[in-house]
Amino acid sequence: MKMKVESVNLTDPSLLLRPEPVYDGKPVSAFRNFDDDENDPMKARVRKTYYDMHTNMSVDFVKAKMAKWLKFNHFKATMKEALIKLNDLVDESDPDIDLPNIVHAFQTAERIRDEHPDEDWFQLIGLIHDVGKVMAFYGEPQWCVVGDTFALGCKWGPSIVYGDDSFRDNPDTHNPKYNTKYGMYEPNCGLENLLMSWGHDEYLYRVLVHNKAKFPKKALHMIRYHSFYPWHAGGDYQHLLKEGDEEIKQAVLEFNKYDLYTKSAGIPDVEALWPYYESLIEKYIPGVLEW
Ligand SMILES: [Fe+2]
Ligand SMILES: [Fe+2]
Repeated sequence: MKMKVESVNLTDPSLLLRPEPVYDGKPVSAFRNFDDDENDPMKARVRKTYYDMHTNMSVDFVKAKMAKWLKFNHFKATMKEALIKLNDLVDESDPDIDLPNIVHAFQTAERIRDEHPDEDWFQLIGLIHDVGKVMAFYGEPQWCVVGDTFALGCKWGPSIVYGDDSFRDNPDTHNPKYNTKYGMYEPNCGLENLLMSWGHDEYLYRVLVHNKAKFPKKALHMIRYHSFYPWHAGGDYQHLLKEGDEEIKQAVLEFNKYDLYTKSAGIPDVEALWPYYESLIEKYIPGVLEW
């Protein structure tokens, strides 16, 4: 049975704010601009998603989300079942931008397989990287599931979309414990010690660790930080990074090359591809998982 979640669009709004990269000869289109436009409901919706996110995402809020989700008591499913479940979340109000999630998953995986035929773990990361969006089935609003992520507990990164204005009603903006350059961190504490905004990246990372996935460390980093644009694209948070974080960044950037939403790349034959990817699931993240 198809479950429908009204007005939940699980295409990352972050993707709508960037030029579409060239793929299969498709030309790069113009940047969507960030200006408000009452005549463009899509733009208004993306803006609202980020304003809601930036207003609500505080240190306390993230800790509460972690307390809720890191019990891993929401459902039990194999990785394949979770991917199929995610595919049933569709937004029928937006036919122009929607690609079934499973298509995006297989396109990402297959693009990686083309260029990295020997790195099967990397291909599987491509397939599963967005499956954390299943949180949308359990009452999480879009702004708590998708979109760019950022670090909490210190001054907002200058390259976060919509900037300081979008954080004006966030309690942490006015809290001296959190609103300074270092906030609650020591200088050069390292990427992995940053408290990240709650979303599908952090959740899936935690699910994989909790269920003892056999991925290399690099793979887990790709999952955890793929939406951390203010860091990997904007260059923010340098004063909090430590040696080795640059290597993580290179891995994330390598992954992000393949994470594109595009209808121009052709629709993969999902049924024909499943047996191969099931064998990878069996190798790296087998069995019934706790979510
Ligand atoms: Fe994602
Ligand atoms: Fe994605």
